[in-house]
Amino acid sequence: MFHNSQLLFERAQRFIPGGVNSPVRAFKSVGGTPVFMQRAQGAYLFDEDGNHYIDYIASWGPMILGHAYEPVVQAVREHVLTATSFGAPTALEIEMAELIISMTSNVDLIRMVNSGTEACMSAVRLARGYTGRNKIIKFEGCYHGHADAFLVKAGSGLATFNIQTVPGVTPGVAADTLTAPYNDLEAVRELVAAHPDSIAAIIIEPVAGNMGCILPESGFLEGLRQICDEAGIVFILDEVMTGFRLAPGGAQERLGIEADLVTYGKVIGAGLPVGAFGGKKAIMEHISPLGKVYQAGTLSGNPLAMIAGYTLLKTLKEDPSIYSSLEQKTLYLKKGLTEALEHSGVPFQVNQLGSMISVHFSKTPVVDFATSAASDVELFKRFFHELLKRGVYLPPSAFESWFLNNALSLEDLDKTIEAVRQSLKAIA
Ligand SMILES: Cc1ncc(COP(=O)(O)O)c(C=O)c1O
Repeated sequence: MFHNSQLLFERAQRFIPGGVNSPVRAFKSVGGTPVFMQRAQGAYLFDEDGNHYIDYIASWGPMILGHAYEPVVQAVREHVLTATSFGAPTALEIEMAELIISMTSNVDLIRMVNSGTEACMSAVRLARGYTGRNKIIKFEGCYHGHADAFLVKAGSGLATFNIQTVPGVTPGVAADTLTAPYNDLEAVRELVAAHPDSIAAIIIEPVAGNMGCILPESGFLEGLRQICDEAGIVFILDEVMTGFRLAPGGAQERLGIEADLVTYGKVIGAGLPVGAFGGKKAIMEHISPLGKVYQAGTLSGNPLAMIAGYTLLKTLKEDPSIYSSLEQKTLYLKKGLTEALEHSGVPFQVNQLGSMISVHFSKTPVVDFATSAASDVELFKRFFHELLKRGVYLPPSAFESWFLNNALSLEDLDKTIEAVRQSLKAIA
């Protein structure tokens, strides 16, 4: 069933570290051979062996309307003929900035970059430059990309591979990154009290997606907002996953919370490499060339990436029914999953908000990294492979949110639920 993928993986390992260009893709935590993909259309992935899958990773978030969404394909096709890159400003970048600002309530200025990592890294540098302070607080199990400052008790691939400390991250950098458990306001208060006037920023995923999907408890984000206001700390919401996914205005709109700085990635580029960070003018005007906090990029604002992202975001802005449709589909899946899991007798938790959902095999509610890590990862591995055999492609890790896309039909969801039932029987 995976013959060609196996051959390709063997070849890839001769030239690419671990055979992949991003670690979780290697299937190391679930075992087996990574599936090499050939093409994608709508809700489906097609591999090199002629198998196809119902896709629940959506390229780890971006493909919210499904793969090869025709208006995006058409726009990129037209634009590729004009230029692939100028390295000079374009009108399209202004349109993109105006569109994003019109979709958010608290972004006055926005800078485009090429990835979520760059966005978060730049936002933290800006917060440090603005406040003149060095330390940041992040949350255990949250992932903000692979910049040095974030590789302390991080989620996503680091949680997947159980990497606690990353060689190459200097002790000096690590010492400036303080961590608290997700949903633990008291721990944050203690850190702030222990480091007076030293904390530049609190950065958080407003809905965590890198330790499975974990929701902020009522009052948690509001509490962080208050702590930041009281202590002069820049509040950064990392909306790389949640931006334009949970609502046109992201988690900020969905949860009614406002940050000082926001970071974006994934959906903002419709599958092309894009990130962005933006926020209040008083902070953003410290960025170069207005201010002295340097930040730059040869391909930032790339015309192909801009037209792809702009086309997708405009659709999302103009048709908010997309979000209710996505949510209905996710709730339908949640109901089916829950029934199948209850019937199987395995302990489980299903966490969901909007079109983000995940299953932890655990008796206790999953509210932070410790409770996520305590779930039965071995069972997840078998569950993953049984579903893969049945044509359902989940993230190859127990520590990642699943993402629904709006190209999924009810029939796809029913097929998925049936595959889940059969998979649970097989691993019982
Ligand atoms: C919440 C969050 N922030 C930042 C990043 C980093 O984005 P990128 O992989 O585009 O560098 C990710 C990637 O998964 C993410 O989920």
